[in-house]
Amino acid sequence: MHPSAALGRIQPSATLAMTSRVFELKAKGIDVIGLGAGEPDFDTPDCVKDAAIEAIRAGKTKYTNVDGTPELKAAIAAKFARDNNLTYGTDQITANVGGKHTLFNAMVATIDAGDEVIVPAPYWVSYPDVVQFAGGTPVFVEAGVAQGYKLTPEQLDAAITPRTKWVILNSPSNPTGAAYSEGELKALGEVLMRHPHVWVFADDMYEHITYDGFRFRTIAEVCPDLFPRTLTVNGCSKAYAMTGWRIGFAGGASWLIKAMAKLQSQSTSNPCSIAQAAAVAALTGPQDFLAQRAAAFQTRRDLVVRMLNDAPGISCPTPEGAFYVYPDVSGTIGRTTPKGKRIGNDEDLIGYFLDDARVAAVHGAAFGLSPAMRISYATSEAALTEACTRIQEACAALR
Ligand SMILES: Cc1ncc(COP(=O)(O)O)c(C=O)c1O
Repeated sequence: MHPSAALGRIQPSATLAMTSRVFELKAKGIDVIGLGAGEPDFDTPDCVKDAAIEAIRAGKTKYTNVDGTPELKAAIAAKFARDNNLTYGTDQITANVGGKHTLFNAMVATIDAGDEVIVPAPYWVSYPDVVQFAGGTPVFVEAGVAQGYKLTPEQLDAAITPRTKWVILNSPSNPTGAAYSEGELKALGEVLMRHPHVWVFADDMYEHITYDGFRFRTIAEVCPDLFPRTLTVNGCSKAYAMTGWRIGFAGGASWLIKAMAKLQSQSTSNPCSIAQAAAVAALTGPQDFLAQRAAAFQTRRDLVVRMLNDAPGISCPTPEGAFYVYPDVSGTIGRTTPKGKRIGNDEDLIGYFLDDARVAAVHGAAFGLSPAMRISYATSEAALTEACTRIQEACAALR
């Protein structure tokens, strides 16, 4: 017995690997500051926790509909109507075990061998691997810092072939924090109107974390003609600080939603019944804390961007959303550490930061664009100040 060929097409998640590394070091009593993990440090709101406890007491502890209870589907449909001006019927809604599961279901349910999926780089680590697991080919399009880490209409047009099945748009983005404005989405939409065979996977997981008054829009909203071929994906993990509860969801064409449910019926079955009840409370309860949390994240973003730009060799753009920065680290490449190690690439730099500065970040190569690194600033201002000071000192010590 040996692992399958399908498994051989994927890599373990680089971000989860760094998170485990930090857990190991901390367990050994080493003072390491983890800026690798993509999760808010805020707690799940109390009203959400209370709803989960209530669900347990009320006996909501049995199997539910495979892709979501009627209550959760109604809450998701109401969320799309309230936040995104999108009208989905409950047959157009799916609930899954986290947003990653939504991605997995959508790709495995639609991709045939040789189908292409356009993935702007840098990308969230799971996109290429899930596409490859499904038998498809990710087509990377480099969207570097000079273009604000965003795909241009010309690039999109050039990347489309008769085999293109999906284009993935993630806004605000993990790992860069870049977010598409309404105008930028419209321009991409105009290209897609000329290619009716291409579907859009709109990953809006960071919708509620935007800054400086940025107005979040999703492509099916600004390009209504694309609504029938867009899967609008979102979830509770980031907005409601519910990463461990595992609820992701999407709205899209009813045949696609049905196909995803068929797959889910033979894999996980329903998402946890208690987590679904909690998600109903999150989506239908008070939403004002979302803006408060985004404001707290903005203060941290400003701190991190400022301090990283003071580190020799690092150049950090200011993102519009999410809780990541993706600085260019080319000024550190080719230099030597005090212990005499040469920094040949961004992975070496991340290794140096971890070993000598005790700060954990993730190297840009894991996200498909180097030399760079991703820093998650979803942690306290005190920890961020200390971590950035360590990075500044480590960069200054390079020769
Ligand atoms: C862009 C993006 N989409 C989707 C997800 C999936 O989130 P989860 O599976 O934790 O709900 C993540 C998590 O890191 C993400 O960054």
